Amino acid sequence: MAEKKKFKIGIIGTGWIAESHTEAYLRCDDVEIVAAADLIPGKAEAFMKRYGVEGVHFYKDHKELIDNEPDLDGVSICTYNTQHAGPAIYCMEHNIPVLLEKPFCVTQEEAEAVIEAEKKSEAFITHGFQPRFDPNMQMIKKIVESGALGKVYYIQTGGGRRRGIPGSTFIEKSTGGIGALGDIGCYSLDMVLNAIGYPKPLTVSGYASDYFGKNPKYFGDAKRFSVDDFAAAFVRLEGDIILDFRISWAMHADTPGDTIIFGTEGALRIPSTNCWNGSIGGPMTLYHDIAGMQFDTVIPEIKSNVNLWDRKIRSFLNAIEKGGPAPIPSSQILYNQAIIDGINRSNECGHEIELKFAD
Ligand SMILES: NC(=O)c1ccc[n+]([C@@H]2O[C@H](COP(=O)([O-])OP(=O)(O)OC[C@H]3O[C@@H](n4cnc5c(N)ncnc54)[C@H](O)[C@@H]3O)[C@@H](O)[C@H]2O)c1
Repeated sequence: MAEKKKFKIGIIGTGWIAESHTEAYLRCDDVEIVAAADLIPGKAEAFMKRYGVEGVHFYKDHKELIDNEPDLDGVSICTYNTQHAGPAIYCMEHNIPVLLEKPFCVTQEEAEAVIEAEKKSEAFITHGFQPRFDPNMQMIKKIVESGALGKVYYIQTGGGRRRGIPGSTFIEKSTGGIGALGDIGCYSLDMVLNAIGYPKPLTVSGYASDYFGKNPKYFGDAKRFSVDDFAAAFVRLEGDIILDFRISWAMHADTPGDTIIFGTEGALRIPSTNCWNGSIGGPMTLYHDIAGMQFDTVIPEIKSNVNLWDRKIRSFLNAIEKGGPAPIPSSQILYNQAIIDGINRSNECGHEIELKFAD
């Protein structure tokens, strides 16, 4: 019997998150990791040796990998944020499907350049928001779509950690580009924007600060810190919806608040966690009226054995097999990135800004 065709996969950037990608690929019997690249000499080799993966071709960067591997079926881009746009564009120019780690990139301008390249390409980019595969996150969208909330008009979202600045390449402008906003802010935005169908953001009044990251009393690597550790914003979305957002890597509190979605027929409270990374902090509550009386319906947390990384990788492989579309498309994540970038731009100029899109 002919041997089953295996997906030939490349890994660009072999740091921390490449571990989760690699472990999930190795659990797939229809995947072969054929190539890996990292800017740091020897890092990709040591990485694959650690996993016992043999027969991998190693390269010094994304360009060398793409130029020398014409038979690739797809790549995972696991580089730090400032190295998302360049490699993604290069892959699109060479028609190689991409699973791009979150956040999309650093600025809206970069995201638009990636989308331009994607439009011209035969390949697609799917975005690495694994909470999308969490049944609890899916329940939020189902509740909104059921009509139980009526017309959604106001959303409060965000999350944070009392002390949870990650370090590594996350904290420098040259590598992370953006701090808490890009690391965990993008998850809060995705959770609620995806639930309500990703309406276009229109204006942003944003604030960002770095009082904890820059202070050696709170963070050991303060000298290196050059991104945001807290951000807040008031965002107007198409459809007359207000988004009230805040995100924090460090603060003098356990949480900046639960996520609450207000609608004309009901409201949904999604409890925060004390280490926000895109999962719910307990049962959700639906507040609504029945027969003129007020009720609170508790929506139990769904405990499941779903491995979000396996789901994320499989959704990419399925899309490769079908030739697209992307399970988590750039057209949605552009709005996520535009809000993040809008917060930084509004913070710099000190007033509300209007967001403009190429379409
Ligand atoms: N989905 C998740 O749960 C999750 C969790 C953590 C991090 N991330 C995201 O993953 C990305 C990487 O984070 P990390 O912690 O692994 O960072 P990291 O710094 O540990 O690893 C990134 C690696 O990419 C390499 N690199 C950079 N540019 C390159 C290029 N052009 N070609 C080849 N190699 C290149 C670097 O040398 C480095 O080794 C970030 O964007 C982060 O937001 C996602």
